[in-house]
Amino acid sequence: MQRYNFFRIYIYFWRKKIRNEAKNLEEKRKMPIFASSESTLLGMIFYFSGTGNTRWVASEIAKAIKEELFYIPDLIREERSEFTLHEGERIGFCFPTHGWQVPRIVREFIKRLKMNTKDHYCWALTTCGDNMGETMTILNRDLAANELLANNGVPLQADTIFSVIMPESYVCLPFMKTDPEEKEQWKIENARRQLQHIIPIIKDCKRGIEELDKGATPRLYSYVIGEYFNKRMVTDKKFTVDKDVCTHCGKCAKVCPVDNIKGAPPEWIHNGRCTSCLACYHYCPVHAINFGKITRKRDQYYFNRRGDQR
Ligand SMILES: Cc1cc2nc3c(=O)[nH]c(=O)nc-3n(C[C@H](O)[C@H](O)[C@H](O)COP(=O)(O)O)c2cc1C
Ligand code: SF4
Ligand code: SF4
Repeated sequence: MQRYNFFRIYIYFWRKKIRNEAKNLEEKRKMPIFASSESTLLGMIFYFSGTGNTRWVASEIAKAIKEELFYIPDLIREERSEFTLHEGERIGFCFPTHGWQVPRIVREFIKRLKMNTKDHYCWALTTCGDNMGETMTILNRDLAANELLANNGVPLQADTIFSVIMPESYVCLPFMKTDPEEKEQWKIENARRQLQHIIPIIKDCKRGIEELDKGATPRLYSYVIGEYFNKRMVTDKKFTVDKDVCTHCGKCAKVCPVDNIKGAPPEWIHNGRCTSCLACYHYCPVHAINFGKITRKRDQYYFNRRGDQR
């Protein structure tokens, strides 16, 4: 009898707890999480992607743990740089590695970003074809340099950081090529497995996790070669179009994240914002766009171009 009463009391409190949790969740759902939108999501992911690798990775994470995705080029177009965080919200940054550094467009966005951080969990992930050197150190320096992200002088830092190897998108140097199909598939399958491991870490807001493919000499890559690369090789000056091949589809202008292309056949307007993502080159359905002579001998790539990825 005594055991029966104990059991009833236990059930009573257990049901009460569940009811309270449901009520809290309901209340939370009614609350706008972001200043500008009514959302039930528990975090935000700011992402950039040229050829779709990072978009896929960021979407997989967002889907699994109900994060809201913000495409950085859209935010820049809309001049949105201020966000209101609620307690417990996660902040994520996802972007490809460009020359062992953070892409120019992401760095510019971070410079202007303003958020009311207060010990919020912040994580970051970069996709790369091979390795990413000190890209995450650079990201954290950029975050620290922005006082609008600090809480009482304590800078925002991505303290859980990942790299995910994905198919290669850089093709503008003699030794750089897209991956053969088999390697491309293999990289994506590995990335899928890796995401199954990464997602719970982010979901549980685990801090201090570093899973990075830095390569053999990360400082040399990022601060010497990468520095040169990002100063000299991030340019739209070498793009050309074969006008007799172009089918006037308009895709290149549509995919350019910085509105640097006008018309069809395309004209690069040289607005000073090209971030070298190579979306214009890779997405052209007839390979009419080239970067110097080198890409005439190169293949094209974008995520799921064969339509065989979920
Ligand atoms: C301009 C540029 C520079 C790149 N630099 C690197 C690099 O330093 N290390 C690397 O492993 N991959 C590098 N890559 C490959 C991309 O990081 C990789 O393919 C990434 O997954 C592309 O992501 P996205 O499809 O979201 O743009 C570079 C790609 C581009 C376009
Ligand atoms: S011009 Fe081409 S490489 Fe430059 S940002 Fe636009 S799509 Fe990317
Ligand atoms: S994507 Fe290619 S075919 Fe389409 S307009 Fe641009 S250059 Fe021409």
